[in-house]
Amino acid sequence: MLTLKSPREIDIMKTSGQILAGIHEELRDFIRPGITTLDIDGFVHERIEKADAIASQIGYEGYQHATCTSVNDEICHGIPSDRVLNEGDLVKVDFCVDYQGGISDSCWSYAVGEVSDEVKDLMEVTKEAMYRGIEQAVVGNRIGDIGHAIQSFAESRGYGVVRDFIGHGIGPSIHEEPAVPHYGQAGRGQRLREGMTITIEPMITTGDWNISLDEDGWTARTADGSLCAQYEHSLAITKDGPVITTLQKE
Ligand code: MF3
Ligand code: CO
Repeated sequence: MLTLKSPREIDIMKTSGQILAGIHEELRDFIRPGITTLDIDGFVHERIEKADAIASQIGYEGYQHATCTSVNDEICHGIPSDRVLNEGDLVKVDFCVDYQGGISDSCWSYAVGEVSDEVKDLMEVTKEAMYRGIEQAVVGNRIGDIGHAIQSFAESRGYGVVRDFIGHGIGPSIHEEPAVPHYGQAGRGQRLREGMTITIEPMITTGDWNISLDEDGWTARTADGSLCAQYEHSLAITKDGPVITTLQKE
């Protein structure tokens, strides 16, 4: 379902988005060598509840955790476990927050301790790709403008753009219309309208975009074993341009 949100509804999404962003800010210090991905999940879950909000990934299509924690070649939907993070790892932490019916969704990539230049560059390019996509999220543009901006930038740097997982409309549930691919042709697809709320969440790899799914039915990883980074913001399309609801402090 595609719903257009009123300024009031967007304000509620901003509230959940600020709770979510604040938790990501705290994760910058929390994530270090020696902790497990389940430690991250516990930390995030506790913070969400402390804010009187709901960890809306729990129970979503049978998923049982507040977060998805995906390490190195894992693209997304990694299940928190007793896996210990080591110096040099790249971990993506993705979660949703529901505050009084306003839902936000944001994923961030974290370097565990000191990481290689290869990881640093992948992280930088992926974040920049996300913001280039967000810049295109203006009234009158089309869905394809977002994907085109992301794909052309990432591929110009020699990286791959995952096809199997895409951005989405958000609210009243986590995944709504429209579908927001991170690849595509400029000027194609649905026109963007005031009041649409979407996520933009490119998954960029140092290799190609083919995925393989683990036996757990959730964890998606690169088929070629290459590294993957991801950044995701939720945003509202307004007549004043894109308003990111999950913006973090520098
Ligand atoms: N936060 C994810 C997204 O960006 C959704 C994860 S679905 C879950 O779309 F079931 F794994 F939680
Ligand atoms: Co999402």
